[in-house]
Amino acid sequence: MILILIGPPGAGKGTQCKRLVDRYKLKHLSSGDIFRTEIASETEIGITAKKFIDDGKLVPDEIVIEMMTKAVRAAGDCILDGFPRTVNQARSLDEALEKDGCPVKAVVVLKVDDEIVAQRLTNRRVCLHCGASFHLQHSKPAVDGVCDACKSKLIHRDDDKAEVISKRLATYHKQTEPIVEYYNSSGKVVLTVDAGGNIDEITKVLISQIDNI
Ligand code: AP5
Ligand code: MG
Repeated sequence: MILILIGPPGAGKGTQCKRLVDRYKLKHLSSGDIFRTEIASETEIGITAKKFIDDGKLVPDEIVIEMMTKAVRAAGDCILDGFPRTVNQARSLDEALEKDGCPVKAVVVLKVDDEIVAQRLTNRRVCLHCGASFHLQHSKPAVDGVCDACKSKLIHRDDDKAEVISKRLATYHKQTEPIVEYYNSSGKVVLTVDAGGNIDEITKVLISQIDNI
């Protein structure tokens, strides 16, 4: 089963995916996490991607499509977080999966206002070592700046600075939102969930909607 989670930066894609993968026994594939690993390892992809990510822009399709279709094929049943992000990426993914006889099962769209997102990202701290994510107000680490899970140093992502957040939001509205219409018109199951509220409540709604399909 392949599920796609779409939403603006800070919508809670990563947070909700971590909960959904346990329940549905799916792998979590986050294109952003893959890029951050490539950046940390200073690979060619990482060095190129960093320039776009730090400027709030999308990494070019030719890099993302090849990297992510390979990752999806290797993963099998999975939930996709942050990919596809353009109509071109969505179309390329559909073509690759149709060849494999394993089409996208459903597309989940997380809706949240830009002001809420900015507040969440300003307060987010992440662990690049194990992927854990914290929020300085409602899910603080036990020790300031230290990951509860693996004790590595927590960071404030470079792209979580106010000026980059507004560019990422503009990029989302312009380049990513149109893929909802692409999936609607291609007859896929599209579930839209209000992601502005409480984390546990959102998980409950997601589970009840996904269970239905
Ligand atoms: P990526 O890492 O995917 O970033 P993003 O889409 O901007 O999303 P985020 O990871 O910032 O947010 P999230 O929705 O996962 O929220 P989270 O759960 O952490 O991509 C980074 C960059 O890589 C892109 O900008 C682009 O340049 C490039 N890229 C990636 N994929 C690409 C592609 N396909 N094509 C081209 N380029 C690509 O939650 C955020 C915070 O809020 C946390 O602190 C969390 O604790 C808190 N929180 C979550 N839910 C709630 C809630 N309900 N209430 C209160 N707080 C909450
Ligand atoms: Mg994320």
